[in-house]
Amino acid sequence: MELKVKDKESLLRRLMVAGGEPVSGQMLADEAGVSRTAVWKWVRELEEDGYTVRSVRKKGYVLEASPDRLSPALIRQHLKDDRFVKDIIHYESVGSTMPLAHREAQNGAPDGTVIVAEEQTEGRGRLARPWSSAAGKGIWMSVILKPDIPPHRAPQFTLIAAVAICLAIRETAEVEARIKWPNDLLVGRRKVTGILTELQADPDRVQAIIIGTGINVNQELDDFPAELADIATSVRIEAGQQVDRAALAAAVLTNLGKYSRLYIEEGFTPIKELWEKNSDTIGRKVNAVMMREKVTGTAIGITEDGVLEIRTEDGGIRGIYSADIEP
Ligand code: BTN
Repeated sequence: MELKVKDKESLLRRLMVAGGEPVSGQMLADEAGVSRTAVWKWVRELEEDGYTVRSVRKKGYVLEASPDRLSPALIRQHLKDDRFVKDIIHYESVGSTMPLAHREAQNGAPDGTVIVAEEQTEGRGRLARPWSSAAGKGIWMSVILKPDIPPHRAPQFTLIAAVAICLAIRETAEVEARIKWPNDLLVGRRKVTGILTELQADPDRVQAIIIGTGINVNQELDDFPAELADIATSVRIEAGQQVDRAALAAAVLTNLGKYSRLYIEEGFTPIKELWEKNSDTIGRKVNAVMMREKVTGTAIGITEDGVLEIRTEDGGIRGIYSADIEP
């Protein structure tokens, strides 16, 4: 598809697509139907946004470096497949991306709409726990999905998201993340990602599923608050080097599209297989801690509904719907 330059954003896309080759200022001006000075002003604005654009005499503009940001243009540059992502809405700082995604979904935003922020000041996790979301360090993102399914199948999308993110971290950073039931990603015993799934539904039909994902990407050990120091990690700590957040966000979105499609076309079985293969929980002796009881035994699998099955010491099988899993 031919990309026509008409503003600063489309100019950026054009320079990105050129892959380091100069693009003539006159050609850009002719194409946009503006003066060369107007093109130059867009270039200045890109530089103010943190991009490095070199002007090569008689040849044109070259994009030399991009800022470490989750801007739509940067994420799109890395998308391997653009069928899934419809819109990316990027904020500098928000309370939480979750209520913003709910509002967008209610106002008719389509399946594949993404709300992403550099910082959250009131990030939240499961069971209303706070979620530490420091500026520029992670991927704090809510994705709107609108599958045509009944509400009881919605929890399967948490498992789809876990598979998608787990494999994206491996593909992008070669870090071996594993899935801890129901929706944490661990490296070793430390948490690298949390997933929060929320639902808008009629009694018989899902209106929207909001997948909130918090990925610790570029924190160093002393970036975490004291209470997380022993239990959290980041992709950077595990990879031993800075990680491109936009590339990782794009890999997550590419995989979310890929595994949602697989689920719609072939059902839950291939997702269940991938989840179990990449799970940290299956085969492990665990304690499932619930409000009123604790179940101890070996985790043996998940059901079609995402329920964790534990073989208890007396040989029986217990299905766990919601619990904290220890160790
Ligand atoms: C958990 O492990 O408890 C889930 C954490 C989910 C955090 C993400 S960050 C993006 C989105 N916005 C939020 O406020 N929470 C989710």
